Amino acid sequence: YYIKAMENGLADDSATESSTESTTKSESEAAEEKLARSRHRLPMIPTYVFDKPDGTEQGIVLAADLGGTNFRVCSVELNGDHTFKLNQQKSKIPEDLLEDDGVTSEQLFAFLAKKISLFVNTYHGDETESSSTSSSTTTPSSTVKENVDPETQEALTSTNQKTLKLGFTFSFPVDQTALNRGTLIRWTKGFKIKDCVGKDVVELLQTELQKIKDPTTQKVKVVALSNDTVGTFLSGCYSSLNGSTSAVGDISEPVIGCIIGTGFNMAYMEEIKNIKKLGPQLLQKYEQEGKVYMGINTESGSFDNDLVKLPTTKYDTIIDTQISPNPGFHLFEKRISGMFMGELLRVILVDLNGRDLIFHDYKPGKKNLPHRLTTPFELSSELLSHIEIDDSTDLRETELNLLQSLRLPTTLHDRVMIQKLVRAISKRSAYLSIVPMAAIIIKTGALKKKYHGEVEVVCDGSVVEYYPGYKSMQRDALAMSPLGPSGERKIHLKIAKDGSGLGAGLCALVA
Ligand code: BG6
Ligand code: GLC
Repeated sequence: YYIKAMENGLADDSATESSTESTTKSESEAAEEKLARSRHRLPMIPTYVFDKPDGTEQGIVLAADLGGTNFRVCSVELNGDHTFKLNQQKSKIPEDLLEDDGVTSEQLFAFLAKKISLFVNTYHGDETESSSTSSSTTTPSSTVKENVDPETQEALTSTNQKTLKLGFTFSFPVDQTALNRGTLIRWTKGFKIKDCVGKDVVELLQTELQKIKDPTTQKVKVVALSNDTVGTFLSGCYSSLNGSTSAVGDISEPVIGCIIGTGFNMAYMEEIKNIKKLGPQLLQKYEQEGKVYMGINTESGSFDNDLVKLPTTKYDTIIDTQISPNPGFHLFEKRISGMFMGELLRVILVDLNGRDLIFHDYKPGKKNLPHRLTTPFELSSELLSHIEIDDSTDLRETELNLLQSLRLPTTLHDRVMIQKLVRAISKRSAYLSIVPMAAIIIKTGALKKKYHGEVEVVCDGSVVEYYPGYKSMQRDALAMSPLGPSGERKIHLKIAKDGSGLGAGLCALVA
């Protein structure tokens, strides 16, 4: 069913669209209609990335990354030997910019432009709001540093550099029409700013950068737009030693870029002849140019919004219709991603308490549940990760965690129930996350190709990276998928932490 959904998403739908579009409709009505129609299709967004990097790429470029937990600005220096040097600053997006109330796209992009400007102009670290340390998990001689170092700063500000190319990782569904052009189709995850929908996000960022008058910022040119899954995939290709003749022992080929964090998504390379929605003219042009593959951002989170195949609990329905900012959309993501794991637990606990099955001392009119248990998005996937692996006597660790985060005293019976729920939520997430992975591997025939069919799925995101046991649950699910245990053994789930920065840099370099 997933493979069918991918094929439908790649098909040419212009015929059906024009026949149903009446000429009397206003632009906004037509846009609304298009959006409603798109709800039923897997987006399968063409990315205009034609080649996989082979590790020989060289140069220094900038990257900016919006869509995960942090906004990141990076400088990427590619050494041309699969290694790279990456300097970065991470900032939290202020909560008030995530809300729709009066916030405009101009305000959001002005904030991003300011951070980019600070990055290209500072290297002492005084402006940094960085909250985490990074490390390279790619090739051993690559480095990842917080802040720009003087050497990189010099390269950036050198008068020989007329433009500073920037690759923009923007991890939301966009209608991409070129490597450097794409309009936001709709927000996902926690973003809501309405006036951004339908606008070209490259233009929005470039405009705000141009308003900042210092000479270095004026040189920044946004030349490429990429999804985090695409960036992660490209970074895996750059770091992989496959292209090199010295590739002894490194025999798997990156085939998928996968994010399981705040959101959930996968990207891969599709044969251009199958991407019918590009239209006959483009298909012919690319054929004449000898182009064979193009990266596809599948937007997997949007699979089966009609719930034909997806099992649904009443808690999924509550989350979608009453809590999420995008009801009816990205229903698959709401069953998998880190943004919703804690929320599922919270909604279930509130329901069980209402039926007097848990927290017996708390009853309406007698004693109300703690505020944090009745407020959406107050339980993090990090909290779940601690409960998941608690093997202390009487689940004392869980008790401590819940007391600390919720000020909620629990009985052993409550805690046993909570741990069971947590494990069910994470297992369902890990098992469902395999569906697109297996489907892409089957559709592309990847296991039958090079390197004895050993393939790599390049992954990033807080859930796949930090959630205890997540990858081994995914392995179990892969073995149960149509790929079977022999297929499962050939699939390597490789973490490429913060890989999308390197990937966006690679896009900028080829742009
Ligand atoms: C980061 C990538 O490492 O992971 C982002 O740079 C990506 O591009 C993010 O969106 C996903 O993880 P999370 O957990 O921050 O949503
Ligand atoms: C959401 C976005 C998608 C992104 C994913 C992971 O699903 O729509 O573009 O790749 O989150 O960040």
